[in-house]
Amino acid sequence: MNLLNRPRRLRTSDSLRKMVRETRISKESLIYPLFAVDGEGIVEEIPSMEGQYRYSVDRLSVIMDRLMEAGVEKILLFGIPAHKDGYGSQAYDENGIIQRAVRYIREYYPSVYVITDVCMCEYTSHGHCGILDGEYVDNDKTLEYLNRIALSHVRAGAHMVAPSDMMDGRIGAMRQALDEAGFETVPVMAYSAKYASAFYGPFREAAGSAPAFGDRKSYQMDYHNRKEALKEVKLDIEEGADIVMVKPALSYLDIIREVADRHDLPVAAYSVSGEYAMIKAAAKAGHIDEEKVMCESAVSIYRAGADILITYYAMELAGCMDQGKIG
Ligand code: PBG
Repeated sequence: MNLLNRPRRLRTSDSLRKMVRETRISKESLIYPLFAVDGEGIVEEIPSMEGQYRYSVDRLSVIMDRLMEAGVEKILLFGIPAHKDGYGSQAYDENGIIQRAVRYIREYYPSVYVITDVCMCEYTSHGHCGILDGEYVDNDKTLEYLNRIALSHVRAGAHMVAPSDMMDGRIGAMRQALDEAGFETVPVMAYSAKYASAFYGPFREAAGSAPAFGDRKSYQMDYHNRKEALKEVKLDIEEGADIVMVKPALSYLDIIREVADRHDLPVAAYSVSGEYAMIKAAAKAGHIDEEKVMCESAVSIYRAGADILITYYAMELAGCMDQGKIG
């Protein structure tokens, strides 16, 4: 047959397929979310997230050593405090769980790049991401607290802060607070397009951060919306964000693509707890091949336009890259 175009020509060998690959990924762009918990001697598995654990500071070496070995040297730290109150005061306590975890990691794992999640929901007794006025989260009051939290993280040694609260104006306010304190070189990774998502379910169990009443729809975004995500991203960039994030990832690949096409700064995607839990559960039931689905999902997020991937599978993905299965 006289066929001029034969796309299959470029698929005839593994070596050729790898040569013409369009999406290249590397371990350098992986970030592992890590849960540090108050207490001692704790390494406890999170029931909703098989294979993921909470670690007390004295046991953090368990996971840090594994990360080092896998070549994953970026972490996104979450803290789970022993005490919660209406103002989330443990979140900005100099000796809070995050602050101690950051100091420990900076001291014993100097090559690790430490990013902290800046939010209040793990620290407030009501589980909302800010300061309440009745049942409404008071935006402007919350900003003052978020700044205090961010500054305390950076003073403890965090390299980068990642506000995940979705309050209006928080990036500008945080940038100004950091600059005034002399931290003008500390970047802000903004959870810019963060949707009110049921995919966070397992995380809330992990962090004990489910809201005590209501939901997060008055601050996180409605998943019917696309333009609103672009607006949020634009505002965060104008306010000084260094990296913008889309979250969750898999159900929002269209948003990742559009943000990447429109803007020139790095785009991060957070493949959240529910995405991880779905793959785990389906694999456990024997319905899918865990490793293959993990790889395909991760690559799809990069292909959509993400430069950085935050994922609970970071170590396993790094292993697959080492073996040449993806990359
Ligand atoms: C805190 C925060 C959440 C996640 C990251 N930061 C939970 C939420 O907004 O309810 C979710 C992460 C995940 O599901 O893996 N605001």
